[in-house]
Amino acid sequence: SSECDNRPFKQRLLVVANRLPVSAVRKGEACWQLDVSAGGLVSALLGVTEFETRWIGWAGVNVPDEIGQKSLTESLAEKRCVPVFLDEDLVNLYYNGYCNNILWPLFHYLGLPQEDWLATICSFESQFEAYKKANQMFADVVNEHYQEGDIVWCHDYHLMFLPKCLKEANLNMKVGWFLHTPFPSSEIHRTMPSRSELLTAVLAADLVGFHTYDYARHFMSACTRILGLEGTPAGVEDQGRLTRVAAFPIGIDSDRFTRAIQLPQVKNHIKEFQERFAGRKVMLGVDRLDMIKGIPQKLLAFEKFLEDNPNWRDKVVLLQIAVPTRTDVPEYQKLTCQVHEIVGRINGKFGTLTTVPIHHLDRSLDFHALCALYAITDVALVTSLRDGMNLVSYEFVACQASKKGVLILSEFAGAAQSLGAGALLVNPWNVTEVASSISYALNMPSDEREKRHNHNYMHVTTHTSQEWAETFVSELNDTVVEAELRTTQ
Ligand code: G6P
Repeated sequence: SSECDNRPFKQRLLVVANRLPVSAVRKGEACWQLDVSAGGLVSALLGVTEFETRWIGWAGVNVPDEIGQKSLTESLAEKRCVPVFLDEDLVNLYYNGYCNNILWPLFHYLGLPQEDWLATICSFESQFEAYKKANQMFADVVNEHYQEGDIVWCHDYHLMFLPKCLKEANLNMKVGWFLHTPFPSSEIHRTMPSRSELLTAVLAADLVGFHTYDYARHFMSACTRILGLEGTPAGVEDQGRLTRVAAFPIGIDSDRFTRAIQLPQVKNHIKEFQERFAGRKVMLGVDRLDMIKGIPQKLLAFEKFLEDNPNWRDKVVLLQIAVPTRTDVPEYQKLTCQVHEIVGRINGKFGTLTTVPIHHLDRSLDFHALCALYAITDVALVTSLRDGMNLVSYEFVACQASKKGVLILSEFAGAAQSLGAGALLVNPWNVTEVASSISYALNMPSDEREKRHNHNYMHVTTHTSQEWAETFVSELNDTVVEAELRTTQ
């Protein structure tokens, strides 16, 4: 049909991720409100116009009834999204349990949750079964919608079994898998009871991608040590079949931010914030309220800075935007209490009748207010204990063309490998080091600030999310072509 109506043929790209780019809120029996989320992956793929993109994933809502499922499927179809329906028990075991209580902390080197680790070990089997079952359900929906020639791109730690499920049904399907978190050292991966099954399932893909070369290397050595497979510069080989493994560092849609800064409503916010914080330097943290983000460590470092530098006490403010996340998982609930306690203590200690040193918000900001905050910030603080990439650091840089503020960045974020030369790199566990970096950043001469900023700005505006997605998909296309060539030779 594409030839008949003279439109150029576009290859279809099926993007499969645990979460759809829209989340659904039920407003009536067959009535849905769809909120578009502008996460990194969504904006990355918005810019990719050479493919016809469809999304397959969970809508983040429990829909037990048929009327609901049918009407939600119809509403989502308008957004080119296809839902996978997971019931409450499955969400609990697969998403809260295996994904967020086991894989997430292990992949970020945090170990199993301390307090309930016995319970975690006891429920490991049932959670792993639920994980495989959920992955198979995603595969079933992909198979229903798959047309010959489509490319299937699976995302993240939720769907490590998906490549295997898909290839079992159709060996010719072009399947890629990308991990948005770190892949840990093989010594950590080795501790997982399901270590071999997870690796084998991922290796069923044609192309496996990571944010950094280190994560790719960790994955390959896990395959060598745990599965006894040979790693080559191109990937991992198993009985003559090659799974390509490579690094594809993600970026942001930087134009979206540089354009936003020029909008009148953002300029109004900028003016408002500048007046609100006049006479004080602004430090900013923007994180999901997750233990990997090192928020308590950041607060302790700020406290140490205030202790060591009494002259700065009423001249600096830390704005911490802490977006609630995975609130059904007990570890996240505990973290929230801990953070609130530390903020309260520091504000009690260093606050005055008219000011407090920390403004802490348990919520997200709308895009325009966020851009304005980035723009007026003097020092951004990203102190992740581990982070796949960390795009907040990119967003901050993109909004700083006129201010040229300082980025303090954890060496354990993937972004340290791309923004390391412009940022002040820190070990977030070393509170004294972070405190003195804060002092260094606040006192940095403008020519040094400018030099560092320009370096990062150049990187952020040239290594965009669109480029990332296009590179991965075209490599996936080529990879399969190569495999086909080999088998026909
Ligand atoms: C990380 C993960 C994503 C996930 C996001 C939000 O960035 O890599 O896959 O979607 O966190 O977490 P949530 O559990 O709310 O989807």
